[in-house]
Amino acid sequence: MSEISNKISGFTLNHVDLESKTQRLLTSALKRANICTSCQPQSLFWDANYFGLNQVKYFCSATPQQQQQILQFANKDLLEEIYWVEQAGVGYMAKMVILAQTHEERLLYSLFSADEATHLATITPFLKEVPVFSGDTFLSYMAKAIESDDKLLLMVLVQVVLEGWGMGHYRSLAKYCLNPHLGEVLQGFLDAEARHHALGVTLVKNSTDYCQESLGNIYSALTYFLHIVQVGPQRLLINIERVLGYLSANDKVEILTELETEKHSSKKLDLLRSLLVGTVPDSIIESLEKQGSFHPYSPSQCIK
Ligand SMILES: [Fe+2]
Ligand SMILES: [Fe+2]
Repeated sequence: MSEISNKISGFTLNHVDLESKTQRLLTSALKRANICTSCQPQSLFWDANYFGLNQVKYFCSATPQQQQQILQFANKDLLEEIYWVEQAGVGYMAKMVILAQTHEERLLYSLFSADEATHLATITPFLKEVPVFSGDTFLSYMAKAIESDDKLLLMVLVQVVLEGWGMGHYRSLAKYCLNPHLGEVLQGFLDAEARHHALGVTLVKNSTDYCQESLGNIYSALTYFLHIVQVGPQRLLINIERVLGYLSANDKVEILTELETEKHSSKKLDLLRSLLVGTVPDSIIESLEKQGSFHPYSPSQCIK
């Protein structure tokens, strides 16, 4: 991915020295805003049940050390994904301040950018080290998408879909988190995310200026995003393979079947459909339905 496409996401931003004046000013500004940036260190925040790994034969027959390693990779992925989504959120909201068409929108997006900065600052201490962007498929896609200047596309994708989806995701992460402090932090994101989502839904519903180009952009972006959901938990497969070694296509199908991938993807796709119906034009939903975008892939389709 080019550097330009990381401008809004901030995925390639450098960090200042811990002893620098900028860092000290940030620490004092966060303190003044009552934003807590301390945490109790813990190696695992979500257990095997959360990932469905307790149902996977390969995982259950692995040594305790291997199980721990797989869980550590899976936990790291989840925490880092939150970090990058919030990092991108700061840039997205700042961009929307510039694209605002009313005084109220401008104020709302400024406040929302501060919400995302708060989320980013509170989640960062839970990471063992400053993450380096790995080029994950979903995050790379999001980073590229938020570079677009098509405001309708941006609102549909980020606020209607991702933030609508994010509420349920954060709620579940908070509920099953083994660390009460992190659970509280994630639960604390929900009110703000609900407001971000609500503004997106309101502005998209009130939009009367859908041009053909926007319709096409939204349709293509949703097709790709739904595909990422349809292919199931690919990163979990990678983590198992990293620890246990090569997995054949049959092994992967078996693992995805044990993880009940089709059932879980189906639920996610239903939720995404419900977020879109009544908000985006019916013609987009019809096209997505026609090409089967709301149908989960079977385990064997997932590995193709
Ligand atoms: Fe957020
Ligand atoms: Fe948000």
